[in-house]
Amino acid sequence: MSIIYGKRIRLRAVEREDVRKFHEWVNDPEVTAGLVMRVPLSLRDEEEWLERVSKADPNQKPLAIEIRKGKAWKLIGNCGAFGIDVVSRSSELGIMIGAKEEWNKGYGAEAMTLLLKHGFETLNLNRIFLRVYSENVRAVRSYEKAGFVLEGRMREAVYKHGKYDDVLIMSMLRSEWDTKIKETQ
Ligand SMILES: CC(C)(COP(=O)(O)OP(=O)(O)OC[C@H]1O[C@@H](n2cnc3c(N)ncnc32)[C@H](O)[C@@H]1OP(=O)(O)O)[C@@H](O)C(=O)NCCC(=O)NCCS
Repeated sequence: MSIIYGKRIRLRAVEREDVRKFHEWVNDPEVTAGLVMRVPLSLRDEEEWLERVSKADPNQKPLAIEIRKGKAWKLIGNCGAFGIDVVSRSSELGIMIGAKEEWNKGYGAEAMTLLLKHGFETLNLNRIFLRVYSENVRAVRSYEKAGFVLEGRMREAVYKHGKYDDVLIMSMLRSEWDTKIKETQ
């Protein structure tokens, strides 16, 4: 798979050198507030994660998110498709922008739009969905901007920060993607 370029960002394969940054981010309580992680993770945990995913289906490998800074690229997080159902042509997406100084600049929405394009037009998926905690309003807004629609609500499905929160399911279908593309042309 070659590098996936957007207007301001690119998605590339994760390299061993990225793991130190990922390790820093998965231990930052502000970054992990909306993520499944609950316990501190060691550098070795992260290295083992990379080993594991490197051997997985190439279509489901995480991708590093980079933004252009002058002539250089800056690593800001990672994202990817996982749990691809080859019969139903369905997949889940995940994203973590760990560089907090880059939040709220539209990079999350742009990364998800690139992943949607990749999922529908390269991986030939028919349905792409994600799960997000209802209290993660930044994420919900970002996904709405990328075109995801609210599909359902799993009530009190996650326990975090001393209380239960609903988990929202948001999705996009291939037919909706095709309509969105036609509208922008
Ligand atoms: C969630 C995440 C991917 C979003 O990416 P991002 O680049 O920060 O988000 P975007 O800039 O695309 O969109 C954020 C939107 O939320 C809005 N927003 C931010 N905080 C908000 C708040 N407290 N209330 C309402 N809206 C808020 C922003 O104003 C922006 O909307 P706008 O463009 O209409 O003004 C990123 O912040 C992240 O990775 N966070 C940590 C890990 C995480 O939570 N991952 C998602 C797990 S499901």
